[in-house]
Amino acid sequence: MTHRIGIVGASGYGGGELLRLLAGHPAMDVEVVAAHSQQGAPISSLFPNLAAGDRVFDAIDPDQLADLDLVFLSTPHGPALELGAALHDAGTPVVDLSAAFRLSADGFREWYGEEHPRPDLAAGDAEAADTVAYGLPELYREDVRRATLIANPGCYPTAAILGLAPLVELAHAGSVVVDAKSGTSGAGREAKDRLHFTHVHADFTAYAAPRHRHTGEIERWLPGELGNVSFTPHLVPMSRGILATSYASLREGVSADDVQSALLQAYRDEPFVHVLEPGTFPNTKALGGSNGCHVSAVTDPRTSRVTVTSAIDNLGKGAAGQALQCANLVLGLDEPTGLTAIGVYP
Ligand SMILES: NC(=O)c1ccc[n+]([C@@H]2O[C@H](COP(=O)([O-])OP(=O)(O)OC[C@H]3O[C@@H](n4cnc5c(N)ncnc54)[C@H](OP(=O)(O)O)[C@@H]3O)[C@@H](O)[C@H]2O)c1
Repeated sequence: MTHRIGIVGASGYGGGELLRLLAGHPAMDVEVVAAHSQQGAPISSLFPNLAAGDRVFDAIDPDQLADLDLVFLSTPHGPALELGAALHDAGTPVVDLSAAFRLSADGFREWYGEEHPRPDLAAGDAEAADTVAYGLPELYREDVRRATLIANPGCYPTAAILGLAPLVELAHAGSVVVDAKSGTSGAGREAKDRLHFTHVHADFTAYAAPRHRHTGEIERWLPGELGNVSFTPHLVPMSRGILATSYASLREGVSADDVQSALLQAYRDEPFVHVLEPGTFPNTKALGGSNGCHVSAVTDPRTSRVTVTSAIDNLGKGAAGQALQCANLVLGLDEPTGLTAIGVYP
């Protein structure tokens, strides 16, 4: 059976990556390729890699979208709040790549400065509808399977949480520091002064600390009681990729073997998360174009701290790849369908 799929925000980086992945998906047919200002423009004018012929971007028509088997939303969170709620109410499964539904209503107010218009659909609230889930399958797979509105995680939270989650029981609450670096596609296609080649090339800078919006998302969805997190993102001169370096103080008696065992145990059956040997470190290029996440940890007995590094492609496991992984679960397909390509390297 082939599922009829729509993508809203198909002209953006996340939407374009979805188009690339879905071109090779055996059970999904992209029927609607909707954009906002790019409506009517040839797809090939933005994504020459897709060989899309003369197909153009469609208009956003909520009635047409509601008739599909699943819709990916890859827009800013404002339009996603409206469209996601409308499609959910119409009974159409949605995977939303934005932050519209990831936090609780209180968290949304705290980190996005807005009242959530549909608190019943705010995945971060314990009392949110059963039909809503945070789309990190490695931690919340059964919730994703039974949901119809998926709040796909942010790129930084995906990298940080996958690295830290297995270590929650081994570390001291309140001791976590996440230091992460992203390529410029993490900021989307829209032209911004700080993303000009002349600014980014041969430069490296931090931004938005200590209140980057993903801080609240990491704290909300890191399981257990690791408490407040200090998070500093950085922009690096590369197109894609995130490397998160996370630090935590270990409880007394926790050894390097305990740390490595916890990581291996957590991910032994996971198709997309690969634990490296201690002393070897993930690199972003190895994940480019894939849905993978590479994790490694080193433990320093001198400081009693663990350092976990985790790498993903921000447009892969950090956005479109993870969204497709969730969509496969929602539609009852094999989770890795269309996602088995490994990274392009070098
Ligand atoms: N880039 C990443 O690595 C990444 C990772 C995880 C999550 N995300 C999230 O995914 C979403 C998309 O990110 P992106 O990087 O793909 O952004 P982007 O490249 O800037 O693309 C944004 C898309 O949204 C559409 N859009 C803009 N304003 C709209 C409106 N008012 N109504 C409907 N559609 C509108 C744009 O259409 P037009 O171009 O036609 O105007 C475009 O297709 C964002 O919420 C972002 O936070 C991004």
